[in-house]
Order: sequence, then C-alpha cells, then structure tokens
Amino acid sequence: MSPIPQPNLIFLIFFITIFTCTIQSSSSSSSSSSPTYQTLDLPPPQYFNPKFPPRALSSNKKYEGSSDLVHLKYHMGPVLSSPINIYIIWYGKWAPPHKLLIKDFLLSISASHRAAPSPSVADWWRTVSLYTDQTGSNISRTVLISGEYTDRSYSHGFHLTRLSVQQVIASAVKSAPFPVNHKNGIYLILTSQDVTVQDFCRAVCGFHYFTFPSLVGYTLPYAWVGNSGKQCPEVCAYPFAVPGYMAGSGPAALSPPNADVGVDGMISVIGHELAELASNPLVNAWYAGEDPTAPTEIGDLCEGLYGTGGGGGYIGQIMKDGEGRSYNLNGRRKRRFLVQWVWSDLIKACAGPNALD
Ligand SMILES: *[C@@H]1O[C@H](CO)[C@@H](O)[C@H](O)[C@H]1NC(C)=O
Repeated sequence: MSPIPQPNLIFLIFFITIFTCTIQSSSSSSSSSSPTYQTLDLPPPQYFNPKFPPRALSSNKKYEGSSDLVHLKYHMGPVLSSPINIYIIWYGKWAPPHKLLIKDFLLSISASHRAAPSPSVADWWRTVSLYTDQTGSNISRTVLISGEYTDRSYSHGFHLTRLSVQQVIASAVKSAPFPVNHKNGIYLILTSQDVTVQDFCRAVCGFHYFTFPSLVGYTLPYAWVGNSGKQCPEVCAYPFAVPGYMAGSGPAALSPPNADVGVDGMISVIGHELAELASNPLVNAWYAGEDPTAPTEIGDLCEGLYGTGGGGGYIGQIMKDGEGRSYNLNGRRKRRFLVQWVWSDLIKACAGPNALD
C-alpha cells in the first residue's frame, strides 16, 4: 500500500554472493526488444544491473521477485475495470515541464495510445490489467487524464496529514471545474517538494486509500505521492540518489531518465500506487496478508525491482541511453522512465516488459 523508503532491504547474503558472480555491467544483449516495435533510429539498449548494498535494517518483507510463500488473495471487492479517469491535484508550486513529464507517464499507460517502442509503459500496465474482479472483468487498459486542479496557494498548509489530504480533495471537488466522478474517477494528489506530509520519507513515499463521505461527500479512491527531491531523495527517489554513508564504498546514484531526481523518482512511486489503486481501490480486492489495515499489495511485493536478475541487492537489468541515463520503459513522445515491476498472480513473480527471459 505504501511504498516504504527504498530499497527496503533485508538482503539475503547468499543471494548477493550468487549474483555477484553472474551479471554485472553493460553488455548489450537486447533480446527483449521486439523488432516489430523497434524504430530505426534507436541504438540497441545497453543493459546493466547495478548492485546497491543494503542501506537500512528493515523488518520489511522482501520477496526477491518470486516466491511460493506469497499468498496474494482476492477479497471479492471491485477493481478499476472501467476506463480509468484520473483527476490530478497539483498541490503547491509545480513547474510546467514537471507537470508535462508526469502527464506523459500517465498518458503512456493506455494501450490504445500510439505504440511506444517495446518495452513500453503500456506493456508494463498489461501485468496490472490481468487482475480481474469476481465478474471476470479485467482492470482497464485505458487511462485518461480527465481533469486537473492546481492548489497553488497551499490551501491546507505546507504540512499535510493523511486526513488533510482528504480535505484537499474535498476542496478540489467542490470547485466547479473539477467534477466529482464517483463512478470511475480516481484522484491523484501530487505535492511539490516544499510540502511535508505525515510519514513522508520516514515510512512512506506515497499511499493510496479512499475518501470518507463525511469529509468529501463521496467514497473516492485516491493516491498521494510527494516530490522527495529536497526532502529525502535518497529514500524516495532511490536509486537516483543514494545515502551519504554509501558514498565512496557503494555505486554512484543512477542518472535519472529525464534529468530530474525528484520527479523521475516520483514516477515509479506513482506507478506503484496506480497499480495498487487499480487492483485494490477500496482495499477489499487484491492483497496479501491477513491484516486489511496493512495489506501487502501488487506494488509492495516488487519494490526496488526494475528488471531481470533483481533482488539480493540488485535492482535488475535495466537500460542506459546514449547519455548514461537509466530507464526500463519507453513512453509517448520518446519519453523514458524507470518504473518498478509489479506482481503477477499468473506467474507468481514480479513481472515487467523489460524482462530478458
Ligand atoms: C483478463 O485477465 C486474464 C487473466 O486473469 C487473462 O487471461 C485475459 O487475457 C485478460 N483479458 C484481457 C482482455 O486482457
């Protein structure tokens, strides 16, 4: 439900040992690119699999990408099976290029969009779309931005709590240009880098839930994600920033695909939250664990994993562009993104379209 500061690494030492001998650095085996999507001017992607040592002791479950011990269950509730209408609330000061980058990511999800080269964001969402509800309806592959609302005046202050996030939504849906869509609308609250949020950086980088009728008037699924660029990039924009104590001994931080540590870091968290919102919008559909107040959802299971060979300290095989910027997905308008994988209940493992096998 809440991406925990990454990487939540309890690493099994023997995995580290095994992987150290196998995959490292940048040989360019581009076997995953489907030739039907490959455009002519794309150089073959360079694959590499950076290793980051454990940076925090954490009690977090880490599934190393695949496990028979994960019992993801369906709890009979709805999934987002109608076309998904996203209403974005930009809270605080947002630069237009940053908004555009995030919107390009969201608009890259729809399968109907003119295909980006594989592996694409739409390919990545395909894993999410394989979840169904009890009527057999799949999660929709259509994601639209249906409205935007800008709260430039920080109407609920520079610090938000889990409850005041709902008040931000309430203010937004009360404003005329921002309708309430309680049938297939979801609300995405994005806070600028000067806004602090309860538990942000310490326990979460984002979360999703639903609003309470007493506060907002309706039950609306929503997600919040914050820009960690100034507050804790080494936690929430990892691996584009690494903690100070790793400097010198560990690998350098990866270069973000769009040259913005905070916003590029947010995009993976947004992907995580949207995948979970779609498969567990009212927290009564797809999750693992017995406790519905702390569900382990399809994003949680694959946190910190971006490609084949991930786990045990490795983030997995990802690509580098000609300028050394790392990514694993292509999006619309030649954008590139680095987004974590999500759990596939069909193969009982984390899955993503940049898989090499
Ligand atoms: C719906 O999901 C099932 C797996 O749960 C999959 O077999 C099927 O192909 C999906 N349908 C569509 C239209 O994607």
